[in-house]
Amino acid sequence: MKALVYHGPGQKSWDSVADPGPTEPTDVVVQVDTTTICGTDLHILKGDVPTVEPGRLLGHEAVGTIVARGSAVTSLDDGDRVLVPAITSCGRCAYCKRQMPSHCQAVGGVGWIFGHLIDGTQAEYARVPFAETSVHRVPEGVSDEQVLFLADILPTGYEVGVRNGRVKPGDVVAVVGAGPVGLAAIMTGHLSGASRIIAVDRVQSRLDKAKEFGADVAIDAGDDVDARVAELTGGLGVDVAIEAVGVPQTFETCCRLVRPGGVVANIGVHGAPATLHLEELWIKNVTITTGLVDGTTVPTLLQLVRDGRIGPERFATHSFDLADMLAAYDVFADADKHEALKVVLRR
Ligand SMILES: NC(=O)c1ccc[n+]([C@@H]2O[C@H](COP(=O)([O-])OP(=O)(O)OC[C@H]3O[C@@H](n4cnc5c(N)ncnc54)[C@H](O)[C@@H]3O)[C@@H](O)[C@H]2O)c1
Ligand SMILES: [Zn+2]
Ligand SMILES: [Zn+2]
Repeated sequence: MKALVYHGPGQKSWDSVADPGPTEPTDVVVQVDTTTICGTDLHILKGDVPTVEPGRLLGHEAVGTIVARGSAVTSLDDGDRVLVPAITSCGRCAYCKRQMPSHCQAVGGVGWIFGHLIDGTQAEYARVPFAETSVHRVPEGVSDEQVLFLADILPTGYEVGVRNGRVKPGDVVAVVGAGPVGLAAIMTGHLSGASRIIAVDRVQSRLDKAKEFGADVAIDAGDDVDARVAELTGGLGVDVAIEAVGVPQTFETCCRLVRPGGVVANIGVHGAPATLHLEELWIKNVTITTGLVDGTTVPTLLQLVRDGRIGPERFATHSFDLADMLAAYDVFADADKHEALKVVLRR
């Protein structure tokens, strides 16, 4: 089959590789119908994720059709159309039982293994471990584009942003960073009853997208964000400040924007230390949360998609044939120029 192979920092190719088969009784193999590229894949290609070894097939999001099953798989059939999520769950370890498959102990202690510790989904076929406790059947009448982003960005924005941030009816929420993940937090923030969502980004096209995705106000990061937010909130600040960039500056912004008693929910993956201004924060009774997505809300999000309450297909700005993977990487890596959010690759 053909697949996107990582050959070390800065190097990738669309190569012929061996077809995967089920190697464990709990595996299935899917033919990949639709997949996408994540910002994390770009981080891997920069060499930021040294646990990814050269030779690894990348990708951790897909909709696929089951073509082979291990002997222990009884509740899934060949021909089933399934969402393959970024996080693998054995369903049995202490963390999976606590609804925290992000730290599944059966797959090495971190639930994100596709395109990381095992071969991923940017390929014609993919081996899916612990399939029965990891994949989700796609409801009938729902398209691949409608569910593909439930593999990663949508549950990330919802779980690590909105739910960790304890967004409740009437809250004023700031989302700093309006990339796919920040937009997912905006999309799901309204579901949790946010009365007003303020988006902050430094790129105009992203601010425009934030408005399309439901932000009430969009502020350029180059403006005096603190003053604008103070003005919009009667001087109090926001109930929940969601960080969706991953740099020290935006985390520190969130800590300034939050009002007493509020929550800072960090989603960003950080590569450098941020300063925690406890000298200002201690007296504000704030909560700071952070974490890796679990994907435990995917069944809920699937229902909301099926019933037309959210439309994640709007994240798809560009489509490619699977074989045009390298062209899709070029567009995604230069997202500002192409005004790209997510690229969709289909067979
Ligand atoms: N916690 C998790 O489980 C998890 C899962 C997936 C992604 N992430 C992380 O979430 C973050 C966002 O992901 P994404 O795919 O949306 O990334 P992205 O790079 O596509 O989007 C980031 C956005 O932030 C904006 N930005 C950059 N610097 C800024 C600044 N100083 N002020 C305001 N805005 C600024 C950019 O213009 C862009 O629109 C990343 O750090 C990613 O690694 C975390
Ligand atoms: Zn991802
Ligand atoms: Zn587990």
